[in-house]
Amino acid sequence: MTGRFITFEGPEGSGKSTQAKRLAQRLEQAGHTVLVTREPGGTPTGEAIRGLLQHDHAGEAICPVTELLLFEASRAQLVSRVIQPALAKGTWVVCDRFTDSTAAYQGYGRGFDLASIIELNRVAVQGCEPDLTLLLDVETQTGLGRMSHRNRQTNVASDRFEREAVEFHERIRAGYLQLARRWPGRIKIVNGMRDEQSVEADVWKVVSDALTP
Ligand SMILES: Nc1ncnc2c1ncn2[C@@H]1O[C@H](COP(=O)(O)OP(=O)(O)OP(=O)(O)O)[C@@H](O)[C@H]1O
Ligand SMILES: [Mg+2]
Repeated sequence: MTGRFITFEGPEGSGKSTQAKRLAQRLEQAGHTVLVTREPGGTPTGEAIRGLLQHDHAGEAICPVTELLLFEASRAQLVSRVIQPALAKGTWVVCDRFTDSTAAYQGYGRGFDLASIIELNRVAVQGCEPDLTLLLDVETQTGLGRMSHRNRQTNVASDRFEREAVEFHERIRAGYLQLARRWPGRIKIVNGMRDEQSVEADVWKVVSDALTP
């Protein structure tokens, strides 16, 4: 039997990476083989693309279309080299960001035509759509506050997206909620404002209801 494909989405600092790890542990306890991966990245080529996307190079700003296509390139590589082979073996895949991030950030955030992004996503994933997407919703200031706290703790510099204006992040949050209204069967909203354990329990309930793990 093929595995199930679950994605985490949400604004900066909403808890995606934290909850992806927690869900993977729960799925493993339920007896599944689980692969956790992330976007952009997850393959050697994708991690190189991630590096390109996070910071400007030699002072050259990345053009918006270049940015969009780099995300799709990283995704295409991840799907064909990692996600599809894992699912085919029966492994459950948990991916930290996927197609909805491009719709939210490049569509609602940067103003690209949403229909074109959905089409590019379709080309990149070649039919490999998530079975379930958990959208962690947090108030913008809470997410940004958590992120800057984490960056200070880990001594990591903020990236190009994290440095965007608050209004950009507000558009991302609103955009994600629109996407959840567009695909209510696949995208489930989870309140990310609660403590980590409570969010984990809410995530598990949604996964249990949707996929009977
Ligand atoms: N429910 C929570 N309550 C309080 N703090 C949290 C919660 N979940 C995660 N955090 C903390 O907030 C910070 C951001 O969490 P995390 O890195 O999981 O978010 P993210 O959505 O993956 O962020 P990014 O978009 O930057 O990748 C981390 O320091 C994490 O420990
Ligand atoms: Mg993260």
